[in-house]
Amino acid sequence: MNLDNNAEIKATNIPAWLKEAVFYEIYPQSFKDSNADGIGDFNGIIQKLDYIKGLGCNAIWMNPCFDSPFGDAGYDVRDYYKAAPRYGTNEDLKNLFDEVHKRGMHILLDLVPGHTSIEHKWFKESLKAEKNEFSDRYVWTDSVWEDPEGYCSLKGIFPRDGSCMLSFFSNQPALNYGFYKPDPNKKWQQSVDATGPKATVEAIKDVMRFWLKMGCDGFRVDMAGSLVKNDENGKGTIALWKKISSFLYKEFPDAAMVSEWGEPDKSLEGGFQMDFLLHFGPSHYNDLFRCETPYFAGTGDASAFVDKYIENYEKSDRKGLICIPSGNHDMDRLSKTIKGDNLKIAFAFLLSMPGAPFIYYGDEIGMRFVEGLNSVEGGYSRTGARSPMQWDDGVNAGFSTAPAADLYIKQDDDPDRPTVSKQEKDPDSLLNEIKKIIEIRKSHLALGNMGQIEFVTKGKQGEPLVYKRTFGDECILVALNPMDKETEIVLDDETKKVIYLFGSNIIKGRKMVLSAQSATYILL
Ligand code: NOJ
Repeated sequence: MNLDNNAEIKATNIPAWLKEAVFYEIYPQSFKDSNADGIGDFNGIIQKLDYIKGLGCNAIWMNPCFDSPFGDAGYDVRDYYKAAPRYGTNEDLKNLFDEVHKRGMHILLDLVPGHTSIEHKWFKESLKAEKNEFSDRYVWTDSVWEDPEGYCSLKGIFPRDGSCMLSFFSNQPALNYGFYKPDPNKKWQQSVDATGPKATVEAIKDVMRFWLKMGCDGFRVDMAGSLVKNDENGKGTIALWKKISSFLYKEFPDAAMVSEWGEPDKSLEGGFQMDFLLHFGPSHYNDLFRCETPYFAGTGDASAFVDKYIENYEKSDRKGLICIPSGNHDMDRLSKTIKGDNLKIAFAFLLSMPGAPFIYYGDEIGMRFVEGLNSVEGGYSRTGARSPMQWDDGVNAGFSTAPAADLYIKQDDDPDRPTVSKQEKDPDSLLNEIKKIIEIRKSHLALGNMGQIEFVTKGKQGEPLVYKRTFGDECILVALNPMDKETEIVLDDETKKVIYLFGSNIIKGRKMVLSAQSATYILL
């Protein structure tokens, strides 16, 4: 397939592989344990690469796998240059990159540039009373009696006379990228061009270089939109990412980055090739999947989502890919709110939208949110969405041979819990439906990452969601009816061929009746 001559997305920095990428998110601690310690690891992931490929995914985003005290599941990095021993060595990680590439796949690591762990050596230097190379690596006020306004801080427990700004939890001090508009009365607010912030950028570039040279294909970037402070409209942070991304694409033209930002008009401007729509921020993503009456549960309204999507699509001038994930390690499991056949319709949506799809491990079998768990590694209410993968009917559902009590997180203990092996055997399973849809997506450029979209309906309450996808001369109509009653649409165009159907549709001339809970893709 030639995506280069005919690219509908205007970005110039999208490597060929990304144009056809379908991602699978791996939470490494919960995916596959190869050494029976109850925690997933790199070698376990290698054992399951053929499964991921068989699903149709050709790219991976792996959550943080660096040395960490794991106060926030690895988003509190202690050493950016060292793989966490519980997952394996740097050599094992390199081996994972090689095994991924052998299969024609790609892998993104999770880069956490906004903060480190309090155990990071930069922070240990930074908290000293004596000025040193790392004194300005984090955002500090210049007196322990002054807090960084609008942020929580760490203070009074170090020799340094100052309060250190926190970026997330109390063990995650904020790295210093400067202030977009430093307050002249607060000397400690440094400009983005000051020596400290510039050194932080160089340090993060070095980390990126290190892993890219070892063979990773790029990064998912944690909290990418909040690095520069006092930056209400994101201008300072956009400028920062312009610098970092131009370095990246110059030195590593095949690398890719996806931002946890949720505002594609800003992130794509900053040079990211992809941005996520998320459960927070202005996208109305939750209206579709995770609210009291989600559209894909058949009861809600998708129109605010669609309006915002169109606005983003136009504002970002289609410089890159707007990515809609099935879920992630921070959200409730998709199957908590979307049930039965509606899950298939949700995937018929996720896998027919522009941008790269991201499937959160286990969502492809409808893994359930495990209720009532105590927090593990800073998971709190997110813990139930991070339980170990359910592979088969063996010990611990094939995740690990460790005693059940030693598993990273307790598994769903329902005897009817979904597993990969059960669903592989069932032709009507969610897993097999997703495989089918990915294959269809891959054989039609119009349905793929780079094609255009035009909405025919917005999925108001009681209305199907209908849109056209186009690439070059190919045009495909997607019609989704998650409701439990049949519905009708009038078509503007003649239909040529139904290429995907779940449920039933009856086309009579320009009228199409969509059965309750149905999804269809039709070539126009
Ligand atoms: C977003 C990550 O996805 C989340 O898991 C983490 O806790 C915060 N950023 C802080 O790094």
